[in-house]
Formats: sequence, structure tokens, C-alpha cells
Amino acid sequence: EKGGYDHFMLKEIFEQPHTIFDCLRGRLDATNGTITMSGIQQYAEQLTQAKRIIIVACGTSWHAGLVAEYIFEEVTRIPVEVEYASEFRYRNPVVGEGDVIIAISQSGETADTLVAIESAKEKGAIILGVVNVVGSSIARTSHGGAYTHAGPEIGVASTKAFTGQLAVLTMMALKIGHLKGTLSEKRYTHLLNELNDVPEKVALALEQKDHIEALALKYKDATDALYLGRGYNFPVALEGALKLKEISYIHAEGYPAAEMKHGPIALVDDKLPVFFVATKDSFHEKVLSNMQEIKARKGKVIAIVSEGDDAANALADDLITVPFADELIAPMINAIPMQLLAYYIGVAKGYDVDKPRNLAKSVTVE
Ligand code: M6R
Repeated sequence: EKGGYDHFMLKEIFEQPHTIFDCLRGRLDATNGTITMSGIQQYAEQLTQAKRIIIVACGTSWHAGLVAEYIFEEVTRIPVEVEYASEFRYRNPVVGEGDVIIAISQSGETADTLVAIESAKEKGAIILGVVNVVGSSIARTSHGGAYTHAGPEIGVASTKAFTGQLAVLTMMALKIGHLKGTLSEKRYTHLLNELNDVPEKVALALEQKDHIEALALKYKDATDALYLGRGYNFPVALEGALKLKEISYIHAEGYPAAEMKHGPIALVDDKLPVFFVATKDSFHEKVLSNMQEIKARKGKVIAIVSEGDDAANALADDLITVPFADELIAPMINAIPMQLLAYYIGVAKGYDVDKPRNLAKSVTVE
């Protein structure tokens, strides 16, 4: 049932070209320039008129929410807040009619996320679920939404569900931006094509497998690691750090690259691996100067870069190259090396990567 792979986690990482394709299939039509999502279209009016969107989730799903915040604000100009479900539910949040809540959950059974949307629903908010498990509690509680269609995720560390969430959320944002007219026709068409190319680019990113395994052996004995990124790649850095913590038990922190000067830079010495998510985007020059700052303090820089990026090449100790994609789309591709790296480090350390200690696949108690 592991389909010839050593672990479910590896199988699920490698399924991503297919799961993302399945997620886009029947919804995205790049040739005709359409996105069809019936569970979203029903709420088109509420969405285009929403004063704000609140995203609630936990863990990896919360990271997908952060990427979505950047995308939604860019293309729909609707203000977005991303909340940890556990914090949102307990603080008597200001929420009610006119608000749209997007709940993101692989399992659809996370207790905090479920209770958060139940109470927001009672107060009159529209709830849209982005859920993987069909018929789950969060899916049933939501007014509408869209399934991620990633198939069963067995590994405790979320991988293919994350990229599926990003695919759904990106389609939602493009759909709403297009309806609202906040997204130009040209940019809309470009992004549809970019989205269409994701499965193929993810497959190319997966070809880095052996190289990433070698890097895993090189860095597996680190006691700490830092993950840095800016803009759309900031949540990817957070997700990379979470994957490493969960699977390899190495203490890792993700930060917006510019925040490092406000504290974490004190950690940098010649033993600290610093993973930069540094693909070509509007923040690229800034990220390169952050890399320089780490090098100047003798940190080890491992950079995830776009193919052919010579500037980053000159600065990094090690490189992982991925195909170039528009910055809105890139997180789906850049997540792949993060997943592989955590996987191979966990395996090299002899840990049970499918069932890391102390973790449950879904957290159904608060
Ligand atoms: O099923 P959910 O997406 O609601 O789960 C949320 C988190 O519990 C989950 O993402 C968790 O952080 C994973 N272990 C991440 O790999």
C-alpha cells in the first residue's frame, strides 16, 4: 500500500504532481480562461463584497492560510486575517454578518478549527471550508467551499494536503479577483497558465531527490536550523521549519528573512544551517542581502533558488534549484524540497517519519 516507497510520507510527497493535477482538474480551464468552483460561486456575492476575510486553521493548514493571505490581498484587495483556530475561538472575536471565514483543514476534524467555525457561524458569518477529507465535520459545518482532492494522507506530517490547499486557495483568490475586477485580465490569464503548469514543475522539483538526500546527510547532525524567506516564501520557510521539527526532532525556526536582524541573528555561528527560500520574485534582491548577512557571520547558507540564478549561487554553500514560477504560484513548488529535506534527515537519523513521537494525525481534542 506504500506503492513501493519506504514510507507513506515519501509516497505522498511523490504523489503531488498527480494530487495537484486532480485538484485543478474540472476546475481550472486555462485555455478558456475559466475557473469553476460551485461551492465558491454560490457565495460569489458575499465574497466579492466582503469587508474582510478571516482564515482559521492550525499547523500546516495555518501556513497555507498565510500564503493565501498574501495572494488574496494582492488579487482581491480584500483585507485578510489569518488566525490560529485555538486563539480565535477563545477570545470572543469580533465576527458576524458580512464576514467570510475560510477554514482550512486536511482532516476536517481538528477540534479547535471546528469549534471556531461553529461559533462564527452562529454569529452570522459565512463559512467556507478548504478540506481534504470528504464528509468530515468541518466540511459538513461549512456553508460552502472546496475539497482539495489530495486523497488519503497517512503520514502524520502533512505534505500533499498542503500543496492541495494552496492550489484550491489560489483558484479561489483568482476567481474572486477576476469577478471583482481587481485582477487585470492579462495577469489573470497569466496566473491561470502558471497554475496549470504546477504539476509539471513539481515533478521537476522532485527530480532533486538524490541531491537533497545528500544534503540531508551533510546537515543531519545540526542541533538547530533557521528557515528564512520573504513575501510569498515566508510561510514556506515556516512550513519547512515545522516539517524539520516534526520529522527529525531538530530544533528549527522559520522567520521572515528581514526579522532575523531583530533577534535570531544572534544564533548564527559556523554550525548553524540557514535555509533560504530564495526563488526569483519581487523580494529577491532583499533576500540576497539577507544571505550576505548570514555569510558574514559564518552561517551555512543552503538556498532554494530558481534555475540559473547565478547571484544566489555565488552566496550559498549549497543550492537546491527549482523551476521558476510566478511568485504567487511558487510556494507550491518551493515546498517540495522542504518536505524532501525533512524526510531524508528524519530517515538518516533512524526515526519513524510516518509516525513521529508525540504527534497524532488529527488533533481532535483541544
Ligand atoms: O487536519 P488539519 O489540517 O486541521 O490539521 C492541522 C494540524 O494539526 C496539522 O497540519 C499538523 O500541524 C501536521 N502535523 C503538520 O504536518
